[in-house]
Amino acid sequence: MMAGSVTWLPDAPDTVTDLETFGSVSPIRKVTEQVAFEGSWDVARRDKVRELFDGMAAEWSSRFGDERETTIIDALDRGGLRGPKVVELGAGSGLGTNEIASRTADLVALDLSMNMLREQSGGTPLVQGDASTLPIPDAAVDTLVLVNMFLFPVEVDRVLHSAGRLLWINTNGHETPIYLSPEDVVAALPGAWTATAGRAGTGIWAAVDRA
Ligand SMILES: C[S@@+](CC[C@H](N)C(=O)[O-])C[C@H]1O[C@@H](n2cnc3c(N)ncnc32)[C@H](O)[C@@H]1O
Repeated sequence: MMAGSVTWLPDAPDTVTDLETFGSVSPIRKVTEQVAFEGSWDVARRDKVRELFDGMAAEWSSRFGDERETTIIDALDRGGLRGPKVVELGAGSGLGTNEIASRTADLVALDLSMNMLREQSGGTPLVQGDASTLPIPDAAVDTLVLVNMFLFPVEVDRVLHSAGRLLWINTNGHETPIYLSPEDVVAALPGAWTATAGRAGTGIWAAVDRA
């Protein structure tokens, strides 16, 4: 099935569609859309978001079920990484980090919240930073992985090399608070992009490449 420049794969056999409704009514959904489409990000918003996640870090990993990991594994299996240099943005306490690390020897995980990063386990190098101003040279990354994370389109476009890939994952599908549809991700990025998208567990994912 084609929708704009997004090709949807058949649902994985374990796809869950009766999602609990919470993300679409969350204030953070509006912030997600403003960041992606209006570039609405400043120091005040950054500090508020960091405080929010610093405060949730201790209990973050215990809040959700295994279907979150099912979505990430399917994204990596059927979407996939594009090359060895991988950066995970908004890695948080590491829901996806160790699974990504098992598929590349060159992963760095970045997050705004030091408290979230402190909850990580595993040997992945961790960086505290703001994904709106990445400490990464132009065109230096093969794949950016974002799991339930804000999209900063200009930075994604800048740091991905010409054949690079954005792997976008929302582990509670359209009810993920920080959610954009694959069609919205393609529309928000500068220039022409195309995506392959899939659903698995409770979530959706999109492997987004330059057209
Ligand atoms: C909803 S949590 C997701 C964490 C993890 N990926 C997961 O799915 O469990 C969003 C994460 O993005 C981080 N974050 C938010 N804005 C960010 C920014 N501008 N730069 C880097 N990380 C950011 C937060 O600190 C938080 O850890």
